[in-house]
Amino acid sequence: MLTDVMKRLIRENTIALVATVTPEGAPAVSPKATVAILDDSHLAFCDLRSPNTTRNIRVNPAVELNFIDVFRRQACRITGTASYASKSEAWFDDLRIHFKSWDYLSDRMRGIVVIEITRAEHILSPAYDVGAKEEELKADWLAKYTDIIN
Ligand SMILES: Cc1cc2nc3c(=O)[nH]c(=O)nc-3n(C[C@H](O)[C@H](O)[C@H](O)COP(=O)(O)O)c2cc1C
Repeated sequence: MLTDVMKRLIRENTIALVATVTPEGAPAVSPKATVAILDDSHLAFCDLRSPNTTRNIRVNPAVELNFIDVFRRQACRITGTASYASKSEAWFDDLRIHFKSWDYLSDRMRGIVVIEITRAEHILSPAYDVGAKEEELKADWLAKYTDIIN
């Protein structure tokens, strides 16, 4: 399901925007930086401080995640079904091995949200439609962002 290009985009752009549906049926989008790729059809992120997202998926497990590569002007949209491993459950310990880089936050982990991917889409900016090249876009946008933070 996940291609190598999508995996690179997800790994390099680790802030996912996670969309869920509130119990009232409204959209809710929340940033999550702890996303791990479990395998070609599963992602997961840590519940550190996600009361709304975790409440929403209990009622409606439908989720969409969007990862945006601001330099290459590309995105990866993941559609899926979420489930929740709370700290007291055995499978939480199995999942923990995927989050070694966030060990410093382990005391804060309340659980892990696992997403079974039903659809994965690689999205290119319309800039590509008019002939832009990946390497040029990367250089241009790196320069723009460097200007912004300096
Ligand atoms: C850049 C960024 C990354 C974040 N990453 C995570 C994360 O990986 N896990 C988490 O539980 N909260 C994370 N948060 C915090 C939640 O998004 C924040 O507490 C939010 O207000 C409440 O989340 P909710 O809407 O999902 O309940 C992050 C926030 C930011 C700004």
